[in-house]
Amino acid sequence: MTARDELSLSRDGVADPVAVAFDAVAERPLSPHGHSAAATPRALGHPHAHESARAQVAGNASYIDDLPELKGTLYAAPILSKVAHGRLNGVDAAAALAMPGVRGVVLSADIPGDNMLAAFAHDEPVFAFDTVQHVGQVIGVVVAESVMQARRAARAVQVDIAPLPAVLDPREAHAAKSYVLPPVFVRRGAPDEAMASAPHRLSGRFETGGQEHFYLEGQIAYALPLEQNQWWIHSSTQHPGEVQHWVAHALGIDNHAVTVQCRRMGGGFGGKETQAGHLAVWSAVAAHKFGAPVKLRLDRDDDFLVTGKRHPFAYDYEVGFDARGRITALVLSMFVNCGFSADLSGPVADRAVFHCDNAYFLENVQVASYRCKTNTQSHTAFRGFGGPQGVIAIERILGDIASALGLDAFDVRMANLYSDEPLADGKGRRDTTHYQMRVEDNILHELMPQLEQSCNYRARAAEIAAWNQQQTALRRGIAITPVKFGISFTATLFNQAGALVHVYTDGSVQVNHGGTEMGQGLNTKVAQIVADELGVSLARVLVTAADTSKVPNASATAASSGTDLNGRAAQFAARNIRDNLASFVCGLDACGAGEISFAGGEVISPKGRRSFDEVVKEAYANRIQLWSDGFYRTPKIHYDKTTLTGRPFFYFAYGAACTEVVIDTLTGESRVLKVDILHDVGHSINPAIDIGQIEGGFIQGMGWLTTEELVWKADGALATHAPSTYKIPATGDVPEHFRIALWPEANREDNVGGSKAVGEPPFMLAVSVYEALRHAIVAARPQGGSAAWTPVALQAPATAESVLRALGRLPA
Ligand code: MTE
Ligand code: HPA
Ligand code: MOS
Repeated sequence: MTARDELSLSRDGVADPVAVAFDAVAERPLSPHGHSAAATPRALGHPHAHESARAQVAGNASYIDDLPELKGTLYAAPILSKVAHGRLNGVDAAAALAMPGVRGVVLSADIPGDNMLAAFAHDEPVFAFDTVQHVGQVIGVVVAESVMQARRAARAVQVDIAPLPAVLDPREAHAAKSYVLPPVFVRRGAPDEAMASAPHRLSGRFETGGQEHFYLEGQIAYALPLEQNQWWIHSSTQHPGEVQHWVAHALGIDNHAVTVQCRRMGGGFGGKETQAGHLAVWSAVAAHKFGAPVKLRLDRDDDFLVTGKRHPFAYDYEVGFDARGRITALVLSMFVNCGFSADLSGPVADRAVFHCDNAYFLENVQVASYRCKTNTQSHTAFRGFGGPQGVIAIERILGDIASALGLDAFDVRMANLYSDEPLADGKGRRDTTHYQMRVEDNILHELMPQLEQSCNYRARAAEIAAWNQQQTALRRGIAITPVKFGISFTATLFNQAGALVHVYTDGSVQVNHGGTEMGQGLNTKVAQIVADELGVSLARVLVTAADTSKVPNASATAASSGTDLNGRAAQFAARNIRDNLASFVCGLDACGAGEISFAGGEVISPKGRRSFDEVVKEAYANRIQLWSDGFYRTPKIHYDKTTLTGRPFFYFAYGAACTEVVIDTLTGESRVLKVDILHDVGHSINPAIDIGQIEGGFIQGMGWLTTEELVWKADGALATHAPSTYKIPATGDVPEHFRIALWPEANREDNVGGSKAVGEPPFMLAVSVYEALRHAIVAARPQGGSAAWTPVALQAPATAESVLRALGRLPA
């Protein structure tokens, strides 16, 4: 049994991936894909432990609130709007100012630079000044000598707001043509004609809920004024470069005067792609006013109220299909609840458009995407970035088609997959997306049947059907759904990265790159890549904090492309150093540079072997450069932003999941019983980390679709603003049968180490949970008399109430 097989074992099997990862510190050889398990194994492909795992478990890994504070540090707390929409007439801070320890308040008028954030749409005030646009909008901060003094005083500030009508529902915003950005339409073929002539038609509307990021480390920033109006910002951010830009803009100074550093986040999940910037700006403006370091960490309830979430969506659709369930026409409208400002809503809504095909060929299709403005938090990036909201639309439609025709949903999904089958008119094949990108790397025709076999889908489906017949209250359901997720930032310019590799005279290596560590294992993977490039052991390579003064203009660590981009940049930097060392050694040994290799901590030439450390020392003495930068930009990608056509993605990541659930039709409660996943990470750089990402992504997706419900009250206040009312999955919700296997093939595109990105794609595998729940609900319907088939109206998340509504046991 290879270590890869071990890693594929389930929780009810033998190996726990985390335990394996820890054991792997002993560098057990693993040969998942051709790296020969020689005496000196390469770092790539091994389940190395996360670079911070031990420190995190021991409590030695520092988050921003753990850093030693500078003398004189003050603390800020936000003053929040209690009104969803209104005219802001005034702020009376007298009571707050009289409270112990309070130094003062900071309002819009205190901002030295622009009072609007440097967000790309320039539509968001730093602090609300003339109007408030959602409950929880930040009007200013109170600054005090302790955190609790600041928080208590912030609640004592009196804000005078004259209420205006508020819009909370995206359909209502659409009716009023109230958008944060203009609508986008993508059309192919002749959807209207094809719909009219379709043998079967279905139409409907449904909604998917938002999702709170629930990063364990809440949003935080610590702003330190340096000499001569220069600044040092500690920010828990996925995008230090953007924080730098926003802080400089608000302070009215050049970017070069602001340095932003982030060693790690306690989770980001997209929630710290832009919205970490707000806290950094607020603390910097406060620090500017008081000439002292200022730290701002949002209390968890405030974090819920202030920061944006996954975009809730509403959908209208009509679909035409044939007798085998093949879609012949689709007309889909997506009403995206963006909240009060644009933030990342444009690219999020675009990605939903790019993923509403998921893995299926849509010959005649019209997609409309409305970016609706509502009086809620400004919704933002969240794992999948609109992809999940696109994928669930088509999966739900295919589930309904299968159920309406009385076919197995797996067969209907297979019949709709992209393929090289020619079109009826002979003009092209069923292989091109609605945005005109050819799907060249499709593996789902092999991957899905393989999963169907390995999880014993057919026999289980039959067994479940028989079991359901015997039950009164309980029903089980099962579903396999695939994922095809486009890898690259849809904004082509973000697909670039830089890195800096230093070799010190003792042969130890330090790496800095433009990416950020949020738990996903980016630093570990980058270190593995650099270790192999220099032929040294992983222990010799240390990755340091993301820092805007080391690698400038870095993109957000997002779009799952952290390793693809920064890993390659670091590889190129290390390669430059290796080339310097190789030419130095071939000078000594009078051989060609191509004859020098680096492996096992040695530099090997035809004349003999030297230790890497020895070569480094010699090279230094001979004035050879031992450090280098590296730069990478993703090839092949291009697309037209206005029509959303082209090749936005370098490649696709694929996977499929089979989920079995049980529902209690009396209470609406449900449980995920079994999950089998076959997922494509190409040649895994680190199977322990990749399997961890697949597990975490799936469970997070399961939370989105089952228990994580955001409820805004009629007055616009978020009712579910704490863990008491907002339920993320707990360990007890993880299915006991949770088997994950990795697809063995390398990325067909030339990506670092043959790998594929893994951060977001597995999130969408959880759509199988939702489809399995709908399958169980179908089984709960009265049998026979099928004349009036209707879609299963299960709103996401499938809370107990939502399941009861879909069963007709609660009013809709
Ligand atoms: N994993 C952990 N542990 N914590 C996180 O915050 N964020 C996810 C994913 N996995 C996240 C995570 C999101 S939204 C993205 S885009 C990717 O990680 C970003 O990192 P990568 O590009 O290095 O995979
Ligand atoms: N994914 C994640 N973040 C982004 C993207 C994307 O495609 N585009 C801009 N920010
Ligand atoms: Mo991830 S939503 O792209 O930060």
